[in-house]
Amino acid sequence: LTSLPAPRGGVRGVRERYDLLKGQPPAQPRASVPAMTMTAQGVELSVPTWPRTQASPQVPSLAGQRWLVLESAAPGAASVTERLHLAGADVVSLVAGTGTSDPVAKCFAVDPSQPEALTEHLERLRGEGWTPDHVAYLWPLLKEHRDLDAGLGTSFHGLLALAKALGPGAAKAPVTLDVVTTGAQDVTGEEPLVPWQSAAVGASRVLPQEYPGLTVRAVDITWPAPDAAASAPWLERLVTELSSGREPVVALRGPYRHVESFEPVAVPSASAALKTGGVYVIVGGLGRVGFALAEQLTQAVKPKLVLLSRRTLPAPGEWDAWRAGHDAQDATSRIIERVRSLEQAGAQVLALRADAGVAGQLDKALQLAEAKFGRIDGVFYAAGDGGMATRISVAESTPEAAAPLLSGRLGGLSRLAEALASRSPDFVVVQSSLTVLLGGMAVSAVAAAHAGMDAVAAQQGRRGGTRWYTVDWDVWGVGEGFRPDAVISPSEGFRLLRALISQPTGGRYLATLGSLAARLQVAREGAAATRPGAKSGGKHPRPPLANAFVAPRDETEERVAGLWQELLGLETVGITDNFFELGGHSLLGVQLLSRIREAFQVELSMRALFESPTVEVMTVAIVEASASQLDPEALEAMLAELEQA
Ligand SMILES: NC(=O)c1ccc[n+]([C@@H]2O[C@H](COP(=O)([O-])OP(=O)(O)OC[C@H]3O[C@@H](n4cnc5c(N)ncnc54)[C@H](OP(=O)(O)O)[C@@H]3O)[C@@H](O)[C@H]2O)c1
Repeated sequence: LTSLPAPRGGVRGVRERYDLLKGQPPAQPRASVPAMTMTAQGVELSVPTWPRTQASPQVPSLAGQRWLVLESAAPGAASVTERLHLAGADVVSLVAGTGTSDPVAKCFAVDPSQPEALTEHLERLRGEGWTPDHVAYLWPLLKEHRDLDAGLGTSFHGLLALAKALGPGAAKAPVTLDVVTTGAQDVTGEEPLVPWQSAAVGASRVLPQEYPGLTVRAVDITWPAPDAAASAPWLERLVTELSSGREPVVALRGPYRHVESFEPVAVPSASAALKTGGVYVIVGGLGRVGFALAEQLTQAVKPKLVLLSRRTLPAPGEWDAWRAGHDAQDATSRIIERVRSLEQAGAQVLALRADAGVAGQLDKALQLAEAKFGRIDGVFYAAGDGGMATRISVAESTPEAAAPLLSGRLGGLSRLAEALASRSPDFVVVQSSLTVLLGGMAVSAVAAAHAGMDAVAAQQGRRGGTRWYTVDWDVWGVGEGFRPDAVISPSEGFRLLRALISQPTGGRYLATLGSLAARLQVAREGAAATRPGAKSGGKHPRPPLANAFVAPRDETEERVAGLWQELLGLETVGITDNFFELGGHSLLGVQLLSRIREAFQVELSMRALFESPTVEVMTVAIVEASASQLDPEALEAMLAELEQA
């Protein structure tokens, strides 16, 4: 999770800052949750569980249903289409590859490296009066190995291209999208794991938050034994799941069906495992979380710290001269100051340049660290660009825009695993994010990257030797402007980490402020509440804001204010009122943009909402965005109306 600059236009105070990041303030601890599962400051620790039932092999009649199947080249994928046909569905298939299309059989080839072609296909089908009510995304269903970038092409970029093509229409006619992966979920501890497949599950949490009317399910399967007899039940179970399953995240393992679930666990009371004077590497060690970890480690064990980032610092002998020649706000001067404070507190620090996403750089940095300090005892992975740059809505997402985040975080952790293969630190801790589960505003790439990172950690943990831990964290109180009770303080986070590292085996944990179950409900119902036909609650008076009420001045402002009122449950909204001061938060922001898209047929950016969250500015943005789509006469009329106002 990343923090954001305070938006212009008057978002003030720390409460609003929290809301921007995560939606509603954290739910208070529930009486029914055993106290042992929460830290003294209300951080709940949970683990994933996958309760199991028998998978059903009874495909119902699908007569009257329209299915779009995105088939991969794997043989099992084509049989899904055939089975859906047999059950009576009207099926169109879009087959990944450069093969020939057969319009009579409603089968069309789509080059997966050009997934934007999906929009053209869907538009053509719509033009012919055919829109799907169910979509099965099977492109990730591949048996052969793919490297990370090629894999993300199908599991992430292809999926987002499909959501872009389907999503806007879903507001009028609901669509269920099943994303089928293989190797995405660590359920049994034994199935092969493929981190780029997991990225599809992360992204699938965000798609319904950005597109009202789109229901997205993630179904992970393992391949059947290679003999034909074993594959028939496999197909029946998969097609039954696609046609009848309801839960958002499911894994099919042989005859069993597992539903994703989480359970609070007791917070371990032990706190050993760190060596006084030990050698600890922090990838992303000059960032907010990385540096907070460095400070905590220093207080605890006066370590030898290796801080890695892509930044080149001047040689330590030049630090005084650098500081003398730059003001105190200079980024390098501030880092020098902080590194010195670590040294004064008893740490030895080696800050090295290494881009985790580039092959060989981590290995080289680790060699230098070992030459200076000796064996590496533990590694913390906290690399990732924070800030607004990570927030890309699905509508705005392109492979070029999302790739740096995916390759920096997920690619970086994969490279770290490679670099550690010939080393054996006691543990690796991956600082992952709750975004993986809760989604949030414009975070499809973040959720995808962290879901993949959790899978890398699980995969590595199975090798034995080094213990790999991953923690899907709620927001840490690093950086400016956080309300202390709405974030995990670094000391609390570190205490929890120490307790986890003391466990004899690694694993995946989730650390939530308040109840995870309550937070998941908000994340899911937030999306469900926007589905067509969802009832809005009663209206409340406009809250007392510092700015005076200014009524809408024309029809467009009235329509925009009306959408705000409906979404925020307010009787009135002034054109200079700030969305976030009115109670808007990140998920509502996503929904607002969806409603604007539906009402005005324009796409506004998330960034614009954050930077100028008022009806007045939003109306101008809508007019500008519409301008290119309007004929000159309509444009002139609209501008005249605005000028008269
Ligand atoms: N902040 C939170 O509340 C929070 C909560 C949960 C999880 N997390 C996760 O923790 C991680 C760090 O978050 P943060 O808030 O500390 O971010 P941040 O302040 O932006 O720090 C990220 C650090 O990573 C470095 N970095 C980025 N890309 C890198 C690469 N390819 N190779 C090496 N270093 C790289 C950055 O330095 P350079 O740019 O100089 O390389 C910086 O030092 C993220 O993955 C985030 O999702 C954060």
